[in-house]
Amino acid sequence: MTQFAGHPDPSASSGRLRQRLNELGAAVLSIDPAGTCVLAGPHRWEHGLVVSSAPFVSAVKSQRASLFDTTIRRIDLWPGLVIVPIPASKSRMNAGGHPCDSPVTAALLFGRDILEADQLARVCDAEQTDLRAAIDKFDHGSLMSPGETDRLVQVIEWMARDAADLGWRLHELHDLSWELAGSYEELSLLYKLSTSMVVDHPPQAFLEQACAEMREVVGLSWLAIQLNTQEPGFADLTVPVCVDNQCAYDLAGIRKIGPQLIDAMDGRFKPVVLDDARVLGIPGLEHIAHSLLITPLHTEGKQLGLLYGAGKTDHASGFSSVDSKLCASLGSSLSIYLKNLLLFEDMHSMFLGTLHALSTTIDAKDSYTQGHSERVALISKQLARAAGLDAHTVERVYLSALVHDVGKIGVPESVLTKPGKLTGEEYDLVKKHPETGARILEGIRQMQDLIPGVMHHHESWDGTGYPHGLAGHNIPLFGRILGLADAFDAMSSDRTYRLALPMNKVLDEVRRCSGIQFDPDLVEVFITLDFSKYLNMIEGHHDLRRCA
Ligand SMILES: [Fe+2]
Repeated sequence: MTQFAGHPDPSASSGRLRQRLNELGAAVLSIDPAGTCVLAGPHRWEHGLVVSSAPFVSAVKSQRASLFDTTIRRIDLWPGLVIVPIPASKSRMNAGGHPCDSPVTAALLFGRDILEADQLARVCDAEQTDLRAAIDKFDHGSLMSPGETDRLVQVIEWMARDAADLGWRLHELHDLSWELAGSYEELSLLYKLSTSMVVDHPPQAFLEQACAEMREVVGLSWLAIQLNTQEPGFADLTVPVCVDNQCAYDLAGIRKIGPQLIDAMDGRFKPVVLDDARVLGIPGLEHIAHSLLITPLHTEGKQLGLLYGAGKTDHASGFSSVDSKLCASLGSSLSIYLKNLLLFEDMHSMFLGTLHALSTTIDAKDSYTQGHSERVALISKQLARAAGLDAHTVERVYLSALVHDVGKIGVPESVLTKPGKLTGEEYDLVKKHPETGARILEGIRQMQDLIPGVMHHHESWDGTGYPHGLAGHNIPLFGRILGLADAFDAMSSDRTYRLALPMNKVLDEVRRCSGIQFDPDLVEVFITLDFSKYLNMIEGHHDLRRCA
């Protein structure tokens, strides 16, 4: 948490009090536990004369117990000389009064009677000053009558009490501000986590960011998030471990204990603070952490994983109930995210499964195009990735390719499987499939961005393609990528009207058509692709066709 510079200066309010006392004609003394007196702030000549003298120091030492007794309001040290102890701020006091190792502050009041006191004569002797000359140097106008002294003692008492209360309230205010700042940081993190929990963003990056921020807010040396590896939806995620960069940590060791902690925490859903982590009996744990804070991540009785961390960075304390509660809140937010992530993965795989089923159905209309959509999708994905598109766009290119021929559902099988040359009418029917496909997807909100690939995968770079005769960069990128992958697969696989061309011939043809049929920039990337996976797919589809 953010550290404040420190508590407010407790002397701030007493500084103001000292100034007021000076204005009222009193001097301010600081008296340490040994009885040594020092005048604090501005004072008159006679104050200096008396306070520095041996008789005064000796008299103060004899009153030391009274000075540190908060029940004593005034000490009439000599005739016409009163010391008024000023209570310290409450936060600095021991249960019984002033802290015994701190100096006490007191007001020093001179009355008229001091001019007649024997003690003044002894002070002058000790200071080798002529008494008469000294009395002449006194500020006679500031010397108080006994009644004035009594009233000033009362005023000082009120002022001191107010100053002490003010000091105490400043401390309280500061403590409250500190707590509020801490709560703000926690709330701010919870808010940030909740707004970052968008499951279609990369979950690994989110978990790493969440781990780093939680470690910072809880104030731990290290924190890790172990996910339940039994959940297929978490299969691609690795354990984020975030550490305080000031120290070296055994990251592999921290990761290694995660699965064992999952087993140890099975069936427990509340944060656990272990002052001695050895009780878990996990080998090697004692080298990583002495005490451990474990927060299970769960939903509806299902274990999703856990947060585990160690080493309070303030070193002043072990884990507190506040840490435990904070981790429980963070754990709840994280559990919601993980639950949504699993639901999203389920939904996504169902969506993908549906698209695969759809593409297989279309390809099945023609045994020669079996697996065509899957292969075009694979090549399109490879090409999009090699062209430098981001992961999300690559995924959308893949899906668009998977359904690129969905419009063939409206083309009669007799036309699709016709062994010979198509008539003009038949070819017109085939040429309608991109627009039919686009119309089919039009009503599906989640597939709007796939439509350009479906609609334009038969356009040609030189503008001779269909359905719209677009040319160059006017052809949407998805259309250019899918068009190249589609033509490549058409050449590389058997068709009703000819056998597959060998790979070197296919690639020669692709090069030849660069800038004519295909986007030349894409061709440049395309010829560098690794086709081994594609060739395996072709083999698999041949086998299926032979078995059919
Ligand atoms: Fe097509």
